[in-house]
Amino acid sequence: MREITKPDQMQDILSGEKNSGKRIGVVPTMGYLHDGHVALIREAQNENDIVVLTIFVNPTQFGPNEDFERYPRDIERDRKIAEQEKVDYIFNPSVDEIYPQGFSTYVDVEGVSDLLEGEWRPGHFRGVATVVMKLFQITLPDAAYFGQKDAQQLMVIRKMVRDLHMPVSVNHVPTVREPDGLAMSSRNAYLSPGERKDAVMLFTSLQDAREQIASGERSRDVIVESIKSKINTIGNASIDYVEIVDPGTFRSVQQLEPGREYCIALAVRVGKTRLIDNIFLIINN
Ligand code: PAF
Repeated sequence: MREITKPDQMQDILSGEKNSGKRIGVVPTMGYLHDGHVALIREAQNENDIVVLTIFVNPTQFGPNEDFERYPRDIERDRKIAEQEKVDYIFNPSVDEIYPQGFSTYVDVEGVSDLLEGEWRPGHFRGVATVVMKLFQITLPDAAYFGQKDAQQLMVIRKMVRDLHMPVSVNHVPTVREPDGLAMSSRNAYLSPGERKDAVMLFTSLQDAREQIASGERSRDVIVESIKSKINTIGNASIDYVEIVDPGTFRSVQQLEPGREYCIALAVRVGKTRLIDNIFLIINN
């Protein structure tokens, strides 16, 4: 495994690999790896000759009052996991390498970037799309791997790739969960033991919604209200949003229709920690 910090060097090495016929898979991350990232790396290993793991806590996707400074980092641990998973290259640049003085070009995926997460985190997806575009330019991947927990991010990236004719196949891997159902996230490290227990309610309420829908409920308002009322049983939770959306547009729907797929997405602050989760479901005829 080699660790590279300079974009030009990474690009040179990988363009050599590509010219010798190797298929490159990239797993973009902000580090502090967990089993969700490992699932992405393994999928990339299955489908490619070379696996590149990028580790970069991207400042442009954090708002001014968000957790950029305190975002968990542990490069030593990440290196060990990458080594165990037989990653070929870690690309671990500094902020100055990615955003040198005078940097002024951004990617804006209009429409979907303004909904849900975008509404609560203005500028977030502009930062994500910009850095992912840069990481793709540097690592020259044939395929890239993202987790379904960040379903809206996945859609933003897919749209960018389509709109800009980028020759990258964007793949997703199902959300990896703790045994009690909590979606794995680097931010789970912020939770106190009590908050960690309470946070299970996010997935429980989504599972209950799945059952409610299976028993015939079709009204968005009824389903969303019952999710919210469960989450509100957590003492120190505050809900940013709970929404049922068309996964093709991320626009909310009012009434569920047979034969269609939906995503129920939520963002909740448990104490000071903002967590997101979602499930996908298809309505039976
Ligand atoms: O999902 C993440 O970890 C980040 O948003 C990504 C895709 C690595 C971009 O910084």
